[in-house]
Amino acid sequence: MDVVLYPDPILRKTAETVTTFDASLREIADAMHQTMAKAKGVGLAAPQVGLSIRLLVLNPTGKAADAVTLVNPKLTSLRGAEFDEEGCLSFPGIYAEISRATSLVVEAQDLDGKPIRIAAEDYVARIIQHEFDHLEGVLFVDRMSAADKVRVRGALKKLDAQFQERAGAPK
Ligand code: CO
Repeated sequence: MDVVLYPDPILRKTAETVTTFDASLREIADAMHQTMAKAKGVGLAAPQVGLSIRLLVLNPTGKAADAVTLVNPKLTSLRGAEFDEEGCLSFPGIYAEISRATSLVVEAQDLDGKPIRIAAEDYVARIIQHEFDHLEGVLFVDRMSAADKVRVRGALKKLDAQFQERAGAPK
C-alpha cells in the first residue's frame, strides 16, 4: 500500500460507511497497520491509502498489543483542549501545533462488526481525532493557526507541484 499525499482529491472526500465485514476488510486493515508501521506513523485512515471508507488504524507505541482498528467511528464526550505538535503521513515534513480535545469516547465497530467503545485521553485522543478528521475530508492544515498556514505555504506549494508532476507523468 502506498500513502496518498496531499493534495490528492480523495483526501477531501467524506468516506463511506462500512457495511460489509469480511475477509477483505481484515486484509485492508492488516495492510494499513503494516503501511503505518513502515512509515513510522501512529495513525492512518483508509482515505490515505486510496480507500474512501470509514476505517482507521492507530498504534501509539508501535507494539503489537497497542494496535487499534476502528470501523465507522463516532466521537462523543469530547472534553478539554490542548495544543501539541502534529504531523500527517500525507504531508511529509510538515508539522504544526494543533488544538485537540484532551479526552473523548469513541464508539465504533471492530472488524467483525461488533460494537466497541474506547475512552481515550491526551496523545491517543489526539490521534483518534486526527484520523477521524480524515474520514470527514478534514486535514490538519485546516486546523492550523493563520500564522502556521502562512509558514507552511511553501511546503504545500511544493507538494502541489509534485502532485501535478505525478499526474502528468506517463504511467
Ligand atoms: Co493525517
